[in-house]
Amino acid sequence: MTREAVGTLTELAPGTAKKVVVDGLPIAVVRQSDGSVHALGDRCSHGDISLSEGFVEDDSIECWAHGSKFDLCTGVPRNFPAFEPVPVYTVTLDGDTIFVDTETGK
Ligand code: FES
Repeated sequence: MTREAVGTLTELAPGTAKKVVVDGLPIAVVRQSDGSVHALGDRCSHGDISLSEGFVEDDSIECWAHGSKFDLCTGVPRNFPAFEPVPVYTVTLDGDTIFVDTETGK
């Protein structure tokens, strides 16, 4: 099991995302405006674009290249041109510290 600390809530403001690498996997760690934290594969399923550079909007993140929005809980795109999901990973918190578990990617 690879569970790794990837940062803190303090440094990840609501409505923002950042890229981390765990176990060699690029992962977008995203904090929703309600404060909850999610982790998705950091490569759009439509092209070689980093989703963490996109726009966090409620419970989705929008790829800046062509506008597909990915559900933060399921990784499923809600609109074209992307049509394949990106992996999602389990996030846990220990105090202020954010952990991502790469074994749970699906
Ligand atoms: S590269 Fe992301 S929607 Fe096209």
